[in-house]
Amino acid sequence: ALVVRHRMISSRKWARAVAILKEFEEKCGTPILKLRQVADAMDVEMHAGLASEGGSKLNMLISFVDNLPTGDEEGLYYALDLGGTNFRVLRVHLGGKDNGVIGQEFEEVSIPPHLMTGSSDALFDFIAAALAKFVGSEPEGFHPPPGRQRELGFTFSFPVRQTSIASGTLIKWTKGFNIEDAVGEDVVGELTKSLEKIGLDMRVAALVNDTIGTLAGGRFYNQDVIAAVILGTGTNAAYVERAHAIPKWHGLIPKSGDMVINMEWGNFRSSHLPLTEYDQALDAESLNPGEQIFEKLISGMYLGEIVRRALLRMAEEADFFGDTVPPKLKVPFILRTPDMSAMHHDTTSDLRVVGNKLKDILEISNTSLKMRKIVVELCDIVATRGARLAAAGILGILKKIGRDTVKVGEKQNSVIALDGGLFEHYTKFRVCLESTLKELLGDEAAETIVIEHANDGSGIGAALLAASHSQYLGVEES
Ligand code: GLC
Repeated sequence: ALVVRHRMISSRKWARAVAILKEFEEKCGTPILKLRQVADAMDVEMHAGLASEGGSKLNMLISFVDNLPTGDEEGLYYALDLGGTNFRVLRVHLGGKDNGVIGQEFEEVSIPPHLMTGSSDALFDFIAAALAKFVGSEPEGFHPPPGRQRELGFTFSFPVRQTSIASGTLIKWTKGFNIEDAVGEDVVGELTKSLEKIGLDMRVAALVNDTIGTLAGGRFYNQDVIAAVILGTGTNAAYVERAHAIPKWHGLIPKSGDMVINMEWGNFRSSHLPLTEYDQALDAESLNPGEQIFEKLISGMYLGEIVRRALLRMAEEADFFGDTVPPKLKVPFILRTPDMSAMHHDTTSDLRVVGNKLKDILEISNTSLKMRKIVVELCDIVATRGARLAAAGILGILKKIGRDTVKVGEKQNSVIALDGGLFEHYTKFRVCLESTLKELLGDEAAETIVIEHANDGSGIGAALLAASHSQYLGVEES
């Protein structure tokens, strides 16, 4: 018979490992009271960010979108979605009233890692080339009539200070990007330069954040959508604000009375956030220390990395994986959130998935069931904290717009469009977020708040906004 020799640790060391776990769990705690404080702080910071430029860690960026899709949009549009490790190019056929989206085609291209930290030219040239190739495969029915330019909705998922619906300067990079010479530049100008270089005649009709695109895409299908949240590589939210509630907006009050705000909530920070020493070390060693603290607690880029750091501590201080520290465990970002999710959702009685992940990714073999259970517990602590904080953030938005309670005689539904890989694929995260939001709202208000998965809405949303900002709008076609 095959004898499996398990890694053994002394009971004293085991106790130490459990102590480290318990301490971590305690520091990550998110009791309802704390979540309410986080939501209140979010509400306060939203006011401050709207009051003046630089008034808060929350940038509360003005999107120049004052009209969301009505469903009447029609025509042929391109969209470009850049914001994670992949970017997408899309072709969308909008059919107007009754027809909705008649057709869409897209291609996904992964961004070579060196381009994420290289030069602005290199990145935009690469994107323009992929777009040109995609346009090259355009079906005949999609060709614009002579003299008409192709138009593009550009989803650029980083903080941008917009100067109009179709221009804006990059404030800073987030997530894994760090291209110094692009900061402060007009990203539409950069893209347009690359398009011209390659000879592709296309006009950017709308520049939008992914949250704005998701909000627009969500609104196209459901007029009750009032906010959008992205839970993916990064995290962020956008919502519909009343223009007169934005003191820092000195432009005209739009006819609709509305202005969509890109909160950049990933940069939210508060003394109420349950930050541990692991989070502090992760932040200090990141590409953007001191920035995006909320994002570093919640989003897909970081959850697996937090788990790795906690495991490393247990290995170093309690010989959790034996006398030596497994070398792979020291490699930053080696444990990705999708792998963490797979371990967290392991339903096999011997936690086989956990065992295999530890072996394949970290080269740690022969782990005991007891050890695997601890790994699952760690995943649970980190995912639960992130999901509950995201729920608190949503409550903060609802408070800001007065939709966290039901007014007498009013039963208005509020729909929040959610998207992003974390929300889509990490089931336990999603379920925890939804149940926490219910708990925070209470039964009555919870009935009026709906969380809707806006599947890949941000690309379609950008195409819709390109349509409503087309240079040919209202121009009779012959
Ligand atoms: C980061 C970006 C933000 C984006 C979010 C989700 O937080 O700064 O603009 O919306 O990631 O992709």
